[in-house]
Order: sequence, then structure tokens, then C-alpha cells
Amino acid sequence: MALISLPILGPILVSESLVAVATLCAVYLLLQLLRTEIPVGLRRPPGPTPLPLIGNVLELGGNPHLSLTKMSQRYGDVLQIQIGTRPVVVLSGNETVRQALIKQGDDFAGRPDLYSFQFISNGKSLTFSNDHAGVWRVRRKLAQNALRSFSTVESPTSSYSCVLEEHISLEAEYLVKRLSGIMEADGSFDPFRHIVVSVANVICAMCFGRRYSHDDQELVNLVNLSAEFGRVIASGNPADFIPALRILPNRNMRAFIGISNRFNTFIQNIVTDHYRSFDKSNIRDITDSLIEHCQDKKVDENANIQISDEKIVSIVNDLFGAGFDTISTALSWCLMYLVSHPDIQKKIHQVLEAFILETFRHSSFLPFTIPHCTTKDTALNGFYIPKDTCIFVNQWQVNHDPSLWKDPSTFSPERFLNAEGTGINKAESEKVMLFGLGKRRCIGESIGRSEVFLFLAVLLQRLEFRSLPGQKLDLTPEYGLTMKHKRCQLSASLRYRHGADSEE
Ligand code: HEM
Repeated sequence: MALISLPILGPILVSESLVAVATLCAVYLLLQLLRTEIPVGLRRPPGPTPLPLIGNVLELGGNPHLSLTKMSQRYGDVLQIQIGTRPVVVLSGNETVRQALIKQGDDFAGRPDLYSFQFISNGKSLTFSNDHAGVWRVRRKLAQNALRSFSTVESPTSSYSCVLEEHISLEAEYLVKRLSGIMEADGSFDPFRHIVVSVANVICAMCFGRRYSHDDQELVNLVNLSAEFGRVIASGNPADFIPALRILPNRNMRAFIGISNRFNTFIQNIVTDHYRSFDKSNIRDITDSLIEHCQDKKVDENANIQISDEKIVSIVNDLFGAGFDTISTALSWCLMYLVSHPDIQKKIHQVLEAFILETFRHSSFLPFTIPHCTTKDTALNGFYIPKDTCIFVNQWQVNHDPSLWKDPSTFSPERFLNAEGTGINKAESEKVMLFGLGKRRCIGESIGRSEVFLFLAVLLQRLEFRSLPGQKLDLTPEYGLTMKHKRCQLSASLRYRHGADSEE
């Protein structure tokens, strides 16, 4: 009796395994035959032939934004791959992405029901859950209003134009002081480690009405784990598409679930405190304003869309999560590019906005938008895409498309300056795609852009950044929802002394 040993199942008969393989192939062929009928006049998007059961996972590799950009050169702007047995349509090309996300915005506004999404905010996330369109729309509006109220409101106590500017300027000053202190003590610092706490403090001020010390271990450890988190939640994680992979030991997945739980508990504790001390006549922050909304909603008998209190209050998880990881990744990339281009750092004060745009374009640190999903049968560029198809939008491809950009792999902020070199060329700047487009476009875009600008303006006015002698900076991104550069040490020196406020 011939036996073979499989890693998960242990020893089994060869004849049994042959029957199993034959059955799997038969099921696969049947699934292929049952594939959706294509309406007359439309075609199925082209793409590489998938292998049974695993689909095109091997071709995706560790850097899907690069492999899918290469595939788009062969198959075009609308191509189809299969991850596991699930078809995924991948969109590239500025025109095609605009057509899908803006002109056919409603058709492409859904989110797929991916496995990893259920761990974020206990499956109640505004950003990652596949809420019914009506529920998502109401929650998105609530999130936008809360953000607007607690960022644009005039600061009662200071000369800043609004509270957001005040929070950012104060945190940036603390950061300058902190980095100078570390330089004096240690001679170098890990930029992400410190930037992420300062940026988290800005969104904490808006969401929770408080800031944390740079030595608060709970916050520091939590926000420094965003790379591990982003690795699993990135587009194309095989475990999202191949159920068998979820039962195999998977270190990344275990770490991700652990971080999600810690993150949820951290925010849950703050929300519980807010409920305890809630006072309707003194709405202190975004959490209070969401709690207030839960109470008002119960009195509003005309509300035709019912949303649970949990789904309202958990909006604060989305805002906090999106508000620190994206901006600290952006700022830390900015420092890496500055240190690699000392000539640019010298004249940065004239070209700061162009420099940030070029960092956004060149790093494309959010290589794909969060996956979308079609909300109904639709067609794009003559290709048929059925309802509930998972959609990847390749922002990295748009930002490196040689038909849109001269020498796309060269880092050149000048490409965004007008002919006189005095201001920004608006048409060029609008081609950079980093915040998505259309119905699901990022709601924190204007906060994100101003925060990166203001933080950098303060940091660069006060400090000059450098790599360490003999150090070769590695700007290769590590793939994830937000791609990070490798953690490294930089140095900085004060450009001139100025009495910074002391921390706490
Ligand atoms: C440099 C900073 C930022 C970048 C590059 C960025 C980028 C993005 C991208 C690419 C998406 C997905 C769009 C899509 O799926 O089509 C997104 C969604 C989102 N962003 Fe941002 N973001 C930034 C900052 C922020 C900030 C500061 C907040 C809030 C405080 C925020 C809140 C959100 C939310 C709630 C969504 C989900 C919207 C939805 O699903 O309807 N983002 N962002």
C-alpha cells in the first residue's frame, strides 16, 4: 500500500490523493465552465492564465504594484487576474482610473468582503467594511463633518488660523526639540519612531482631546506597529482570497490580529472614559460629537437609515488609524528623499510644495487604493465586469506611467514648478494619484496635505537633516497598504536657535 505524507494532512494513500486531485481539477473546470455569461458586445478583461486553486498568486510575488504594472504593459489598463479562485480586476492608466472612480463612481464604490477586514474595528470599520451603500454614505458624511468641525474651527486661545494649525505647529516644535535632544545624547535617531508619535498626537487632539508623551509606551508601541499591520491589509494578501491559508500557521496574520485587538482595546478604553464624563453642553472632541450624534439620532424619528451606536462611535477608530499612519509615512519618506538629495534640501524653502508632490509621486507609498468592489454589473473600456468583482486600483502605475511623466523614475520636484519656477503647475500636480478619486476618495486629504506641509516647514526651518557618514540610504519600499522605507538612523543639526516650548 503506497503512502505519501502531506504537510497538513499527514500520511495518505496515493490512490486517495489521485482521486482528491482529480476531484479538485473537475471542480475547477466546472467553475471555469460556469463563469458568468458576457453580454453581447463586451469582452472578458484579458490577463494571465490562472493555475488551478492558487490562480496567479505566484506571478504577483512580493511587490504586486510592480508585477501588476508590468502586466498592464502587456494586457492593458483593465486586466483580470485570479487570486485563489477569486477574480480580481486591476485598473491602471490615468484615464481608465478616472473613468471608473469618477464617471462610473457608483459602480465601483463598494468594498469587497475580504477576510482580514473583519478584524479591523471588529468588522465595523467605515473604511474597510462592505456596509450597505446607504449606511456607508451616512457614516462617511458623519466622519467628514466631525473632521471639519474639529480641524477648521478657530482656535480660541491663540493666533493660529485654526485648531489644526495650532496642534500641528505645537507638535512640530516639540519634535524639533526632541530630535535636537536625541542628537545631543545619541548622535542619531530613527525618524519614523519619533515622527509617528508627533503625528499621532495631532489626530489624538482632534479625536480624543488629549496628547501623549513621547515616552508613553502604550502609544509608542502601538503606533510603531503600523508596518506589520499594513503588510497584511495590503492589496493582494493571499490569505484574503485562499481560505486554506487561514488555517496554516501564518506569523504575519497572527501579528496582524494581535495588533488589531490592541488597537481596538486602546480606543475602546478612551471611548468608555468619554461616555463616563460626557456632557452634552461641552462637546470636547470628535469622540464626544459622535456620542452626541448617537443620542440625537434616537430623538430623530425621521431618520430612515438606522445605524447602531457602535457603528457611529467606531468612526473614531477609522479617523485615528488613517490619521497617523498615512501622514507619518509621508513625512518619513520626505526626510529620506531630502537626505538623499542634499542639493534639494538647500533650496527647499522655495520648492517645498513641489518637493512634497514629487515625494508622493515617486514613493507612491499607498501603491493601491483600498480594494474596491463593483456594486452592479458594469463595463469599462469595452470589458465586462460583473457585480461584486474585487477591484485593485494601481496608483503606483499611474504615478510612474511613462506616457504621463517624463523620466518617471527620476526624483525631480522641478517637474511640478511653473515655467517661471515661482509656483506650482496645477495641471501637473493634479496628475499625482495618492488619495484615490471619486466616491471613495480620502476624506482626510486636505488635513493630510496641510499636515505634511506644516510639519515639514517647521522641521526644515529649524533643523538640517543628514545621513550618517558612510551610510548608504536604502529607499527600496517594503510592500504594504502604506509602503515604508527600511527603518534607519539619520542625524540633524539646529539651523539656528529659537526658544521652543518645553514638552508637557
Ligand atoms: C498623506 C495622507 C493620506 C493619504 C495619502 C491617504 C490616502 C487614502 C487612500 C488612497 C484612501 C482609499 C481611497 C479608495 O479606496 O479609493 C483613503 C481613504 C480614507 N482616508 Fe485617507 N489618506 C491620508 C490621510 C488621511 C487622514 C488624515 C484621514 C482622517 C483623519 C483619512 C481618512 C480616510 C478615510 C476615513 C478613508 C476611507 C473612505 C471611504 O472608504 O469611504 N486619511 N485615504
